[in-house]
Amino acid sequence: MTIATVIEAWNRADPAAIHPTRRISEDAYQASGRAQAEALTTVLPDGCRIVDFGCGDGRVTHPLKALGYQVTAADGSQAMLDRITAADPDLATVLTDGTDLAAKLPRKADAVLSLAVLIHHGYEAGERIVEGLRAAVRVGGLLVLDWPTAAQPAEGGSWIGVTTWSRERQEQLATRIGLQWVDSDLPWPVFRAVKAA
Ligand SMILES: C[S@@+](CC[C@H](N)C(=O)[O-])C[C@H]1O[C@@H](n2cnc3c(N)ncnc32)[C@H](O)[C@@H]1O
Repeated sequence: MTIATVIEAWNRADPAAIHPTRRISEDAYQASGRAQAEALTTVLPDGCRIVDFGCGDGRVTHPLKALGYQVTAADGSQAMLDRITAADPDLATVLTDGTDLAAKLPRKADAVLSLAVLIHHGYEAGERIVEGLRAAVRVGGLLVLDWPTAAQPAEGGSWIGVTTWSRERQEQLATRIGLQWVDSDLPWPVFRAVKAA
């Protein structure tokens, strides 16, 4: 699977595929986004500039903006971004596959959030995307990445599959590009952008 193939699949996907709660109800889907945005306030400084990368139709993006953050919605699917601006025409959007995110922002972000995106890419694509996200964050900024490791890692192999990484491979990449692990109570890894070794 190439990055472009994954994005094209999402561009055509039923919006119900975005998060399991949407199969329960739209209210449950929206509530899950509000709850995750609230949880993110434990690590994201008040009012900071956040890019929600792979934002989908804004499940977490809109609640983050409502909490006072300066949010940019970034996605590879124009259909997703169109749904975001239909709900909030004032929300800044960026069409990106992640590898070119830094070049598409007016300035580096204080934080990049990416939920349920890396899991749908294989290792090679995932590395290129993480490199792109790191390049889009200022030194000292934060990256909250849904980037799971497993004792027996495996590539998902499809746009809706789930890829897990070995801890060693994740650490090697993090060290090479300047990502320092931050302790948090969030269910996703949190990194601080530092100068690469
Ligand atoms: C499962 S949805 C998650 C949406 C949102 N983050 C959430 O948690 O509700 C995956 C989203 O990531 C986008 N996406 C997948 N791969 C991408 C890539 N390489 N670059 C940009 N967007 C990507 C898809 O278009 C889709 O909107």
